[in-house]
Amino acid sequence: MKTYTNVKDLGDLKQAVKEALEVKKNRFAYKHLGENKTLLMVFFNSSLRTRLSTQKAGMNLGMNTIILDINQGAWKLETERGVVMDGDKSEHILEAIPVMGSYCDVIGVRAFAQFENKEDDYQEKILNQFIKYSGRPVFSMEAATGHPLQAFADLITIEEYKKKDRPKVVLTWAPHPKALPQAVPNSFADFMNEADVDFVITHPEGYELDPKFVRGAKVEYNQDKALEGADFVYAKNWAAYADPNYGKILNMDKSWTVTTEKMALTANAHFMHCLPVRRNMIVSDDVIESPQSLVIPEAANREISAQVVLKRLLESL
Ligand code: CP
Repeated sequence: MKTYTNVKDLGDLKQAVKEALEVKKNRFAYKHLGENKTLLMVFFNSSLRTRLSTQKAGMNLGMNTIILDINQGAWKLETERGVVMDGDKSEHILEAIPVMGSYCDVIGVRAFAQFENKEDDYQEKILNQFIKYSGRPVFSMEAATGHPLQAFADLITIEEYKKKDRPKVVLTWAPHPKALPQAVPNSFADFMNEADVDFVITHPEGYELDPKFVRGAKVEYNQDKALEGADFVYAKNWAAYADPNYGKILNMDKSWTVTTEKMALTANAHFMHCLPVRRNMIVSDDVIESPQSLVIPEAANREISAQVVLKRLLESL
């Protein structure tokens, strides 16, 4: 594997989950792979889980890790070619990326959607420049349109907790005070569409996701109806994708918050969320603290998904 930006990079998904469960049983078995190899993690945006779990995964594999927070101490980067750089940006990304590549063997990049230009976001302008100019294997630590490390961890968690061969998994929009990218729901849909699950997406009208990620999934605008019989409820907020509202909050309808009453409609479903989560906007205290909540094991599996990806990238060197 030379890059990791979406579900397709994993190849056979069943095999990838099997590998993840094996790695989880013995996370230090491949320590030789990363010996004298350096992982560089580049963050254009904040992180708790991705930062810690990916660094831990690299350490499990014997790698040295370097973290660069672009907005804290690095030169401000210009990303557009042709710009006269007479403003506050001191360095161009076209020099910065190959320089970063010269100090490491594998690069992880976090660069969220900026909601300024839908085409730039959906063309993954920043991530793709790292792939093109770094000369190193590159993996997404959440880019503008996808968060495949999270979705892989979500799938591993569903595999661990499912009680039937083909569980019903519901991705539900929930309210939030800030406009959030579609990266997490896009990747979750991408993975669920490839997995052996009955997948339903529910959201208010106007929050339709990119059809490229929704594919054949059932979309149900009535949240209560969607939740009926669910085995897993995956809550997430996202801003509108469709034009002319790209990146906008259309409403903060609190009737979409995942509460005990909502969970009562399900088949005693597990609750999932990628975190960080705003309590009593996305999910009530009672639901996230309930025994059915998987948010902590789900976050713990981020170490495992990152380790499988890093292992495969190291094996390709
Ligand atoms: N879920 C997730 O990616 O968390 P962080 O933003 O804290 O890394």
